Amino acid sequence: NGEMRAWDGPTTDVLSPVCLTGPNGPERKLVGSYPVTTDREALEALDAAVAAYDNGRGEWPTMSVSDRIACMERFIGKMLEQKTTVVNLLMWEIGKTLGDSIKEFDRTVTYIYDTIDALKDIDRAGSRFKIEEGIIGQIRRSPLGVVLCMGPFNYPLNETYTTLIPAILMGNTVLFKPPKHGTLLHYPLLEAFRTCFPKGVVNTIYGRGANVVPTLMQSGRINVLTLIGSSRVADSLKKMHPKSNRLRAVLSLDAKNAGIILPDADIELAVKECMLGTLSFNGQRCTAIKIIWVHRSVADQFLRRFSEEVNKLKPGMPWEPGVQITPLPEPQKPQYLTDCIREAEAQGAAVMNKGGGVVEASFVMPAVVYPVQKGMKLYREEQFGPVVPVVPFDDLEEPIDYIITADHGQQVSIFGTDTEQIASLIDPLVNQVSRVNINAQCQRGPDTFPFTGRKDSAEGTLSVEDALRAFSIRTVVATKN
Ligand code: G3H
Repeated sequence: NGEMRAWDGPTTDVLSPVCLTGPNGPERKLVGSYPVTTDREALEALDAAVAAYDNGRGEWPTMSVSDRIACMERFIGKMLEQKTTVVNLLMWEIGKTLGDSIKEFDRTVTYIYDTIDALKDIDRAGSRFKIEEGIIGQIRRSPLGVVLCMGPFNYPLNETYTTLIPAILMGNTVLFKPPKHGTLLHYPLLEAFRTCFPKGVVNTIYGRGANVVPTLMQSGRINVLTLIGSSRVADSLKKMHPKSNRLRAVLSLDAKNAGIILPDADIELAVKECMLGTLSFNGQRCTAIKIIWVHRSVADQFLRRFSEEVNKLKPGMPWEPGVQITPLPEPQKPQYLTDCIREAEAQGAAVMNKGGGVVEASFVMPAVVYPVQKGMKLYREEQFGPVVPVVPFDDLEEPIDYIITADHGQQVSIFGTDTEQIASLIDPLVNQVSRVNINAQCQRGPDTFPFTGRKDSAEGTLSVEDALRAFSIRTVVATKN
């Protein structure tokens, strides 16, 4: 509610994925701590958001679009002053490389500017009057109420803001809970929220999500739930709302994107794009290619070149130049990935590259596992880490059937040179997933493209314009002519 509060209650230590040598071997370095707030503070924050919205009569939801934009522009100015601090925390809290941390920050600032521009367009369109059958209608976009925003650990700044910023700009009031890994980097920005927006518009809550978020959902006073995270968590949170039929959900969830390498593919291009698609940020991207299907006739050639390139990846600390493989923030992830590899090996698969799957402290060396088949964890589970399952196929129907029968439907990448064949695949595939990439890796950007998914992968659509739509409703002011 526009106050910075001192906290003398219990706190949670934030341990970096970066390990330093302690008396008992490598230990995760302590970066700082955050308050373990309780239901009481969460409900106070909710009261503040509800009061600031005031059933749509508050200062913020009734403020002109140009004044809201002016507040956001002031916020960007203050955000830029914190760039170095936020970038450092991205490296320490989630192990993102210096280059990618800078990219995440800059991309977020660009996103905010693009969203402001899109809002100006929407506002201009809204101020045009439509006259029909003796009625003058002004079609507007109006806010929805109180929005609860939760972002993921892999893009703790960027993806939290891709929901938070459009929600605020549309005149809603918000509560946001930073992700468990990637919490502290939000601290330096809180003062900017406090000073750039009216009281109660932006409220930050800490503490364990499993404790405080159910309380918020059960209150029935959240109008929009927006989460970038797991399908399981989203389902259970939605069910907690007493009037879930009135809750709008804007969700970006699990995905198991497939890469398909056709027999006539340009193998060098496929290798280059699959490297980016599978192993950027250690494979910890919802849009990562998480399984590669390769036609048996080119499987050996692809695996040899792909493994050679994987072997060249340089592990190291996030701030070291040229590093591509960094420590993983989730403490249980190395064990999970090892289990997946061991299970595949027990069923006849092998790690194709040198040192793949070796665990050192919180590092997992990238592993190419082949041939992966039905029944293995790596076939269906979203590994979200540096392990690349590769499946051979003889008939294109096999990977197509894999996509059709999946619970997820976010993206697919097809590699091939026969343009007619590729053209014939586009409609069937884009009717299963939300983006088809041709001779290109799976990815979210450019951020002005709609970002969504089918089946369990998403609800609603994010990006610039689409997110402004997601956090608003079209309304009409109609006057008899
Ligand atoms: O983790 C999910 C992100 O939306 C991925 O974004 O494709 O730009 O890495 P990206």
